[in-house]
Amino acid sequence: MKNCILAIESSCDDSSIAIIDKDSFKCLFYKKISQEKEHSHYGGVVPELAARLHSEALPRILQQCKDYFSKLCAIAVTNEPGLSVSLVGGIAMAKSLALSLNLPLIAINHLKGHIYSLFLDKKEEYDLGVLLVSGGHTMVLKVDEKGFLEILAKSNDDSFGESFDKVAKMMNLGYPGGSVIENLAKQAKDRNLCFSVPMLRSKELNFSFSGLKNQTRLELTKHQHLDESIKSEIAYAFEEAACSHIIDKCRKIFTKHHFKKFGVVGGASANLNLRGRLQTLCEEFECELKLAPLEFCADNALMIARAAVSAYERNEFVKIQEDILSPKNKHLERL
Ligand code: KG4
Ligand code: ZN
Repeated sequence: MKNCILAIESSCDDSSIAIIDKDSFKCLFYKKISQEKEHSHYGGVVPELAARLHSEALPRILQQCKDYFSKLCAIAVTNEPGLSVSLVGGIAMAKSLALSLNLPLIAINHLKGHIYSLFLDKKEEYDLGVLLVSGGHTMVLKVDEKGFLEILAKSNDDSFGESFDKVAKMMNLGYPGGSVIENLAKQAKDRNLCFSVPMLRSKELNFSFSGLKNQTRLELTKHQHLDESIKSEIAYAFEEAACSHIIDKCRKIFTKHHFKKFGVVGGASANLNLRGRLQTLCEEFECELKLAPLEFCADNALMIARAAVSAYERNEFVKIQEDILSPKNKHLERL
């Protein structure tokens, strides 16, 4: 029976392919090759390097799942947002597969994919709030009763994950910085250093992390020699303020919108401090917290495959000759 969807994700620095059974949501194949090590040296993603590594990794992964080709009913691919030079690699592969296997093509918005990481093996739920914290984005969305999306807040500058990456870069800790800073913060013994939480008195719902990044930079310049204990203290103060900023804005949003369910997705939602504090906030507002499995918080093709199942059911296909990278193909209207 042809009831499986193959999905490709290559929006940033992870090359990933997944195959999902659209009727049972069972994952039949999943593989991801991360480029973190290659970019670490530069303190961030180098687009040209990312593009070259995708062109090597994607065919290698595809080779491993050839046995499933006869079961496929569609090909899906992340088409935006992301690094264009990275996206095109996945899109080219998806188009050639769709053409050669004579299958329909589905284009999936990466952010929508992250939301589907809450529903990898089950039917999606509507009527909930979602916090998306990744390297490229920080936003709170509302999914209404019919599945339509509304952005309630986003970052005016850096994203939550990006600010961790930038602080790690300032301390020469490589890329990505999220888990490095989180682990360093856990080791802090002296926890007296305190950074001010951005926009605490502002009624605005949007986030801003650039001021906090600069506070961290200034603190670092005060020390001629950065030993491990100072680094961990600074990492702790930074993480505390960054998480407090998210909690403060979410509290303001919860007061306005009475969510019964609240999902947290994106690579940075792996942060345990943030998860714990959101749990407490949700309990206070009698709201059920929904988390993506830790393994699938960061970029992966399974969330794209899962989003594609819903798109398939609604016949949301794109033409192979269509320019799905172009701005008129930006879809974040519904789940
Ligand atoms: O969703 P993702 O894999 O890629 C994008 O779509 O951007 O998120 C990657 C981001 C990076 O900025 C990384 O530093 C951050 O998520 N991240 C974390 C943690 N783990 C990953 N940020 C804070 N704490 C973490 N534990
Ligand atoms: Zn992502």
